[in-house]
Amino acid sequence: MWLHLGGDLFGGTGESHPGRFKGTAIVRKRRMRSKDTMLRVFIRRSMGEYILQAQDLTKTYSIGDGEESVVKGVSLDVGTGEFVVIVGSSGSGKTTLLSILSGLDRPTSGRVVMAGRDITDLSEDELAPVRNALTGFVFQAYHLVPSLNALENVMFPAELRGDEMAMEKARRLLERVGLWKRRFNFPQQLSGGEKQRVAICRALINTPRLLFADEPTGNLDSENSRAIIELLLELQRENQITLVMATHSREMAARADRTIRIHDGRLVESREGL
Ligand SMILES: Nc1ncnc2c1ncn2[C@@H]1O[C@H](COP(=O)(O)OP(=O)(O)OP(=O)(O)O)[C@@H](O)[C@H]1O
Ligand SMILES: [Mg+2]
Repeated sequence: MWLHLGGDLFGGTGESHPGRFKGTAIVRKRRMRSKDTMLRVFIRRSMGEYILQAQDLTKTYSIGDGEESVVKGVSLDVGTGEFVVIVGSSGSGKTTLLSILSGLDRPTSGRVVMAGRDITDLSEDELAPVRNALTGFVFQAYHLVPSLNALENVMFPAELRGDEMAMEKARRLLERVGLWKRRFNFPQQLSGGEKQRVAICRALINTPRLLFADEPTGNLDSENSRAIIELLLELQRENQITLVMATHSREMAARADRTIRIHDGRLVESREGL
């Protein structure tokens, strides 16, 4: 499975650093590639190739005596290889929706189909390996395990699967993001940008077909944000990963294949392209 991934991810020199991808030429190139991606996604979608399908999702929380609906009937199909951005004001339901789409949380009603498999009614024991094999999740607040160093954090999801190549895969990823030299640092010994790069490596180690990212640059300064954005997009493109990202960043939304806006738990707009 790891062999699907091509290119730089495995040929890293250890000198890669996301900060190197700056400049308008790169942005122009990226935009052209984005159009290519859109065409591929369009063809796949018209052939019915969806990696993720959500049908009429709702999420209702019990609060005190009452109930509050925070997702109100969202349906969504995501084509293989597509880069979808979810935007919406704070509290509109982006994190809740991403958690449901990724199988981290369950809908109150509605269905989620991932790579052709309906995951809605799976038990946690059935769901965990599916999630671990198919998805990666990058959280706004990193969520690294404080008692594990950077290398161990990255290896963790692969070790859960008993993958004997866990160390080698973690090494390649950490080299790819320029952090092999920081592999023995614990999370509290890493900067915010470094923590997020470790978290991205962890999300990628099991070669996810679907990568979810919830405001991955929300806690970073603009320079680090830009570097993380470039890194995520480059890894997504190199490895044909489907990327579903919640963000407040206009820059990010401008580069997505599709932007979805949610307002008060409802999908109110879906816009293709740039
Ligand atoms: N466990 C919970 N119990 C009750 N209400 C919740 C719970 N989790 C989220 N909510 C509510 O659901 C709504 C949507 O929250 P969510 O975190 O999905 O918003 P968001 O769009 O991600 O916001 P932000 O941009 O601030 O991250 C909010 O009003 C929030 O208070
Ligand atoms: Mg959120």
